[in-house]
Amino acid sequence: MQNIILLGPPGAGKGTQAARLQATRGMIQMSTGDMLREARASGSPIGEKVKAVMDAGELVSDAIVTALIGERLDSAGQQGAIFDGFPRTQAQAEALDLLLAERGRELDYVIELVVDEDELVRRIVGRFTCAGCGAPFHDHLKQPAVPGTCDACGSHEFKRRPDDNELTVRTRMAEYRAKTAPILPYYEKRGLVRPVDGMASVEAVAAQIDAILDG
Ligand code: AP5
Repeated sequence: MQNIILLGPPGAGKGTQAARLQATRGMIQMSTGDMLREARASGSPIGEKVKAVMDAGELVSDAIVTALIGERLDSAGQQGAIFDGFPRTQAQAEALDLLLAERGRELDYVIELVVDEDELVRRIVGRFTCAGCGAPFHDHLKQPAVPGTCDACGSHEFKRRPDDNELTVRTRMAEYRAKTAPILPYYEKRGLVRPVDGMASVEAVAAQIDAILDG
């Protein structure tokens, strides 16, 4: 059972690679962003609480996201975990160590997706997903084969994230630089960090990650 963190700024490809690893390796994708969006969609008290923070591109409190991850780990059984968008602060990194130790798990790798920020803004601002099945598309990089129809499920409904506008993306990048990138040394000291070229194609990034996990 492997436990890995995918670390990188917004749009680095964490979600794309985590979904692939979940599909190909039977690991569980643990995306705090997805969990928070689910909480919002359900109208739960947590969802109401985090809405404005997320829409501003700022970070939700450590206590909320750590509790969400703890619950998800409890239902993971013996499957490996892919932490996608968590941890994002030093406090979250330390909380994750505790959560893993309490469940007899160990962190194997921190995969750092190394990317160019300006390209990321272009990636994020153009993206949209199928409202039916969540398949990802992009204004410039990947339009549906038949305009207005999802390639995967045939739905005609698509959606965009409210925080995927340029202004909010710049704030999300700034949050990453200020609070998340500084946790890298915490893992470097333990020899866990494996940098990957996140500007390569989705397939090439996947191959680099596979080589690390199989190495
Ligand atoms: P979250 O949902 O985690 O968003 P994010 O980190 O900003 O990351 P994204 O989902 O935008 O990008 P990604 O790296 O997953 O890239 P993707 O694969 O989609 O968080 C949202 C908000 O929730 C935060 O701002 C915060 O408010 C809150 N939050 C979440 N976790 C939190 C935490 N732990 N603590 C506190 N607050 C938290 O790819 C992007 C696009 O590029 C897609 O269109 C994709 O198809 C394309 N693409 C991917 N890879 C490639 C490639 N190699 N080449 C070309 N295109 C590519």
